[in-house]
Amino acid sequence: MREQLAKIREEAMAKLSAVSGSAELEELRVRYLGKKGELTAVLKQMGSLSAAERPEMGKLANEVRAAIEEKLAEARTEVEAKALERKLRAEAVDVTVPGRAPRLGHRHPMYVALDEMKDIFIGMGFTVLDGPEIELGELNFDRLNAEPGHPSRDWSDTFYFDRDERVMLRSQTSPMQVRAMDTMPLPIRMVAPGRVYRKDEVDATHSPMFHQIEGMVIDKGVTMADLKGTLNTVVQQLYGEGTKTRFRPHHFPFTEPSCEMDVQCHKCGGAGCPTCKGEGWIELLGAGMIHPHVLEMAGIDPEVWSGWAFGFGLERLAMRRFRIDDLRLIFENDVRFLEQF
Ligand code: PHE
Repeated sequence: MREQLAKIREEAMAKLSAVSGSAELEELRVRYLGKKGELTAVLKQMGSLSAAERPEMGKLANEVRAAIEEKLAEARTEVEAKALERKLRAEAVDVTVPGRAPRLGHRHPMYVALDEMKDIFIGMGFTVLDGPEIELGELNFDRLNAEPGHPSRDWSDTFYFDRDERVMLRSQTSPMQVRAMDTMPLPIRMVAPGRVYRKDEVDATHSPMFHQIEGMVIDKGVTMADLKGTLNTVVQQLYGEGTKTRFRPHHFPFTEPSCEMDVQCHKCGGAGCPTCKGEGWIELLGAGMIHPHVLEMAGIDPEVWSGWAFGFGLERLAMRRFRIDDLRLIFENDVRFLEQF
């Protein structure tokens, strides 16, 4: 029996020293210390020993058990440490590997042009306003002096929501003039960029949705000279020092007198070329002195206050700024196109 115990001890120590995983460890524990294990099997023979031998063998068996238990705990610690190390190695992050750079977008070219415009006007003390694209016919037309029957009110030009022409998609940013007059204290200096809608077929220069910027100043003693001076300053900043402009008489219901402003062609310098269709000039915007009746309808006394307004298309501005020759490119949002700016 003494030899049996020694053999168990020796074998268990050797096996536990070489153990490699927790499953194997558990197997060995059951094999040596379990109820049906080798040590228990030996202890069952105790009954056949003499009374003198029994305590000695009992003591020896206990020593063997204690030794195996100790070795088992040691082996368990080692197995766990190895498992942790393996896990850490498998999950290690190599911080020296070059990262995957996320693709960064950028502003749309038209908004680049818009932001430039805004900066120029903010620098001159203008407030930037935002207004609804779904507008009242009253503000888009009536309050802007466009009488019933005015051609711009025609159903072939305008998107109405109802038969009574009360609600519509705004066809211009000019109703923002009225909204500013109704809500802002005088004097007013404001610009209002935004989308407008007209029933136009899509082609290289037309779209049923496009963008305008409205501008308006109301103060005491404001004249056409202020309008020309302001717009000339803006054009110099946008297209460079020395850019020439010209003002042609025109008609708008809400301005009197009204004009259109042309810029000398940047391509040919006024000689005439395909870009300006041989004209030497490119039309940029509509403008004029605010009609006294429009001021009156807003409760502003035209004897005391005067003002001017302008409105122009943002796409056209961006197209000229970035030399884009087809309006559709601006709205298609083809990344291959937009990436160029
Ligand atoms: N709203 C006019 C248009 O869309 C432009 C304009 C604005 C003209 C302000 C005069 C004053 O054509």
